[in-house]
Amino acid sequence: MKKITATIAIILASIFMLHAQGYVPSEENLRNRKEFSEARFGIFIHWGIYSMLGDGEWAMHNLPMTFEEYSHLAAGFYPSRFDAKEWVKLFKEAGAKYMTITSRHHDGFSMFATKASPYNIVDATPFRRDVLKELSEACAEEGLKLNFYYSHLDWSRNDYYPRGNTGRAAGRPEEGDWNSYLNFMNAQLTELLTNYGPIGCIWFDGVWDKGGSHEEIERTWKLSEQYRMIHSIQPGVLIGNNHHLGVFEGEDMQMFEQDLPGQNTAGHSANSVVSETLPLETCVTMNGNWGYQVRDKAYKSVADLIRLLVKAASNNANLLLNIGPRPDGTIPEEAAQRLKAMGKWLEKYGETIYGTTGGFMKEQSWGVTTRKDNRLYIHVLNPSETILVPFSGSRLLSAVSFDDGSKVRFTQLPEGIVLTLPERQEGQTDQIITLTFRQLQ
Ligand code: GLC
Repeated sequence: MKKITATIAIILASIFMLHAQGYVPSEENLRNRKEFSEARFGIFIHWGIYSMLGDGEWAMHNLPMTFEEYSHLAAGFYPSRFDAKEWVKLFKEAGAKYMTITSRHHDGFSMFATKASPYNIVDATPFRRDVLKELSEACAEEGLKLNFYYSHLDWSRNDYYPRGNTGRAAGRPEEGDWNSYLNFMNAQLTELLTNYGPIGCIWFDGVWDKGGSHEEIERTWKLSEQYRMIHSIQPGVLIGNNHHLGVFEGEDMQMFEQDLPGQNTAGHSANSVVSETLPLETCVTMNGNWGYQVRDKAYKSVADLIRLLVKAASNNANLLLNIGPRPDGTIPEEAAQRLKAMGKWLEKYGETIYGTTGGFMKEQSWGVTTRKDNRLYIHVLNPSETILVPFSGSRLLSAVSFDDGSKVRFTQLPEGIVLTLPERQEGQTDQIITLTFRQLQ
């Protein structure tokens, strides 16, 4: 008996020590962080039964609708033209290295086969197909990483109680068992991490619904426990959380919504980059909505999207560019065309984006820089004749135009490098000059 008590005491002590040590990412996780940072471009997909209303993913809350009324959409959801292979091919053609899809959004509807709730695409729709499974197979075939968006917030369940600030018109009873909700989420996350092969990232969103400080959020949502569970199933998976508050213990990346790192014009991000080493990601809508919105034709131009990608890379961040597929499973032409155009650009200029880091300086009046090995890529986004690159860390060996390798005139001064730019191609979005140095740290 004594022996057993002593053993238990040792086990408890080691568990306590593990906790005290905090989160230590696995080797695999560190490798995945590096691979993720090198990827630089991913596609975000907001798709669910809300797409049938053509009014964005917040339609249930915005209209507003009761859950009872909204849930009838499920029985009519039949994305007859959905083809996982076609989607994945398009994303590859766009030059993306990963996709992040909504497995369950705030409306509470699961877009995958789950035993934790009948309110899912296999059990509640006539379609009866697990679209995440099909996408996971297509991704594995094509070598595209698959990530899952997962909403902490839920407008459909009674056990999401006490409620937060949204989904108040859903018509739910004023009681519910919060622990049951936490268990439900963990059961679903276990399924997502068990049934779809290796997942790149779990992308959380929605804890802001209940507000609170960092500590209150941790406590309410039992995040450390949830993160430990996730990493115990797939130690390599990256955890990100769009809580707008930097990075919590157990998370593997920092994300920014509708803003570049360190900016917070939209009010959905932390004001600064909190770690020098964690991967960064900026998610951005291609028009003004995440989910399919029939009237929203305000798509960003290809040039704007390329500028975003380049600026994200110059800020050490990936661009996660969103599209909202239609209820029939097709991707709006405006979005598909833009993705293809980005792919064309990346085919030619990808070397200056993939696997790069930001290049020593903040945005300049002429543009931004990225860096790889001994090379600094000068991205001249605003047409200029002569520019000063404020960098004097090493001797410059050569300056050439990325387009044709022709020499570019330069003078190296103590305050930086002066470049006399060659003539810019008509309508060129980004004129790139490659500077090769003797050595870059
Ligand atoms: C916001 C929106 C949510 C969307 C997310 C994407 O948090 O509430 O609908 O999924 O942004 O970043």
